[in-house]
Amino acid sequence: MTLTAAQALSADDRTSYDLGPARALSCRECGHQVPLAAEFACPQCFGPLEVAYDFPAVTRQQIEAGPKSIWRYRDLLPVPSTVDTHPNTEPGLTRLIEADNLAAALGVRKLWVKDDTGNPTHSFKDRVVAVALAAARELGFTVLCCPSTGNLANAVAAAAARAGWDSVVLIPSSLEQPKIVTTAVYGGTLLAVDGNYDDVNRLATELAAEHEDWAFVNVNVRPYYAEGSKTLGYEVAEQLGWRLPEQIVVPVASGSQLTKVDKGFTEFGTLGLVEPTPYTVFGAQATGCSPVASAFEAGHDVIQPVRPDTIARSLAIGNPADGPYVLDSVRRTGGSVGHVSDEEVVDGIRLLARTEGVFAETAGGVTVATAKKLLAEGKLDPDAETVLLITGDGLKTLDAVSGQVGPTATVPSSSKAVREALSHLG
Ligand SMILES: Cc1ncc(COP(=O)(O)O)c(C=O)c1O
Ligand SMILES: [Zn+2]
Repeated sequence: MTLTAAQALSADDRTSYDLGPARALSCRECGHQVPLAAEFACPQCFGPLEVAYDFPAVTRQQIEAGPKSIWRYRDLLPVPSTVDTHPNTEPGLTRLIEADNLAAALGVRKLWVKDDTGNPTHSFKDRVVAVALAAARELGFTVLCCPSTGNLANAVAAAAARAGWDSVVLIPSSLEQPKIVTTAVYGGTLLAVDGNYDDVNRLATELAAEHEDWAFVNVNVRPYYAEGSKTLGYEVAEQLGWRLPEQIVVPVASGSQLTKVDKGFTEFGTLGLVEPTPYTVFGAQATGCSPVASAFEAGHDVIQPVRPDTIARSLAIGNPADGPYVLDSVRRTGGSVGHVSDEEVVDGIRLLARTEGVFAETAGGVTVATAKKLLAEGKLDPDAETVLLITGDGLKTLDAVSGQVGPTATVPSSSKAVREALSHLG
């Protein structure tokens, strides 16, 4: 957004970084502004910093003529104007599926599934990492790092490998084995820490302060990283035919994604790329890690941290940095934050797979199951056009369903046995 005169930095205050339309970092709490740099906390009140922009005039035609990736929105992202827009290797422009079968199963009039499993490392985290890497390069970093609940680890290790950078990734040692393998395979340094994500995040924050050439994407370059999630909102609007949905359900871990999808919708309206029609944002959590849902239910503004215990490990952040801003988004738009049990998560994964042929990881199960629950509770409107964000691939969390599904029958290699086993099909 354009800075107000009172808040705007003078030209002398600005640095010479080329981060496209980004003009400053602005505190979400007090509005104080600092020049573009690798900063994430306000020097006045320690509130989180986010990117403030002077957006150029952008048209639908310009975007449509751009790369078939998130870089079609580069004029709205904090990245250098020279950002490398490799075709086929960059995230974004994933499928928006008309989910008529799931709509019928849930009793919703019109439903879409945004299938972000189609990104290079099979989750939406490729979006945020691509933006973080482009900004980090401009800011002078040489090593790409993160603490992660799994998907970010994949995305950072892969993006660093492709860029020829070293990577340092910290994960809880209890992570699903496939997520460990699908990070380690890219090379780089992978540290499995005997602790939960919140421990890992604290250790990463200490390391970020000690190594000035290490970009921890979700710590010291978090303001830039977070902006990558706006592209999910942009894409949904573009793929709906340049309009906003009426409702959207978004999984919540740190809460960054939800707030940025909201920001993406608002920016598209402000920039005249869509009609600024009203929309409602809903958050989805697993009951075993539902600090934001609990605060919403209790009517609190602050989040009480929890110790996570859920199969939805990608969402297992007990002390979510953007939790209060999730509450702001859902309250401002008239939505809510729901939560579901691990059994419901598995049912959600299976329902989506059975109806739409999309195999989501546990975070997707959380989204589908929460949508079902919010419908039953009368919070989600069955007559409103609805989008569900499916942010990660089921192949990464096979354990969640492997005990539940398998062959219909296992038979000897004989025609008779095969026919018998298929007799119920007539
Ligand atoms: C698959 C998936 N979906 C959603 C999220 C939530 O993202 P955020 O931390 O921005 O709330 C994560 C976070 O790791 C994730 O891995
Ligand atoms: Zn501040």
